[in-house]
Amino acid sequence: MNLKQTVEFLESRLSGEVPSLMMVLGSGWGELIAEMMDIESRLSYSDIPGFPVSTVEGHAGHLISGRIAGTRLLAMQGRFHYYEGYSMAEVTFPIRVFRELGGRGLFLTNAAGGIDSRFQPGDLMLIKDHINLMGDNPLRGPNETRHGPRFPDMTAAWDAGLAGAVRTAARASSVDIKEGVYLAVSGPNFETPAEIRAFATLGASAVGMSTVPECLVARHAGMRVVGISCITNVAAHEGAAPLSHEEVGDVAAAARKRVSALIGAALPRIEETLNLNPDAP
Ligand code: HPA
Repeated sequence: MNLKQTVEFLESRLSGEVPSLMMVLGSGWGELIAEMMDIESRLSYSDIPGFPVSTVEGHAGHLISGRIAGTRLLAMQGRFHYYEGYSMAEVTFPIRVFRELGGRGLFLTNAAGGIDSRFQPGDLMLIKDHINLMGDNPLRGPNETRHGPRFPDMTAAWDAGLAGAVRTAARASSVDIKEGVYLAVSGPNFETPAEIRAFATLGASAVGMSTVPECLVARHAGMRVVGISCITNVAAHEGAAPLSHEEVGDVAAAARKRVSALIGAALPRIEETLNLNPDAP
């Protein structure tokens, strides 16, 4: 993968200045956010040199630049999942590219299974922290000090200022938002009931198969990260009906109204927080 080639291509093809905020759109988020955008340019991943090609159903594979509620952003409609067979370097390649383009803020979204017993399908969860149980790490291997330090600090992996902006937006738009710890597994299978009991003991509120690699690479490179999970199901428990990928998509669709109200209110506040305090934390 040739970072320089991809960066030069995107600099020439994205209209105007590259936005300082990028949203990664997870399962169920892609279409909705794209519909909310006043689009400036839209590129298929397959047309971007160096980009892996997205394979999973429900992930369209476009890099879009445009505005939502007046805030300019890049949106990745479709992400690269570790369970698809991509390496950690491939999964996080777009984050490295975005950093080289001058990116400062990363807004990660996903679909996740609820572990916290207070969560219901359709709930939104602000990610306060994470647990990496993927069994791999995108920062493993030779460290390029140009990108960041060998042993990056993760005490503030999820940015308190940006999380505050989302909380304020939730209040202003009367959208209920939960908070919790996102635990990442490699997938592709959903969890066993014993795994979910174990993860609850570890302090996890929700479980999913993405997001953590992107957060690690972004923090390594000094970007600020915020994230929201859409709780699409109650994670496996004894007596539960078997889970399907379709179910995950259906619940995400049902959350559309709340998601669009929240995102419309959150993006200007996130942008403002990024600009007020560009180098924090
Ligand atoms: N487990 C893991 N990933 C998920 C789930 C789940 O229950 N729901 C949506 N993504």
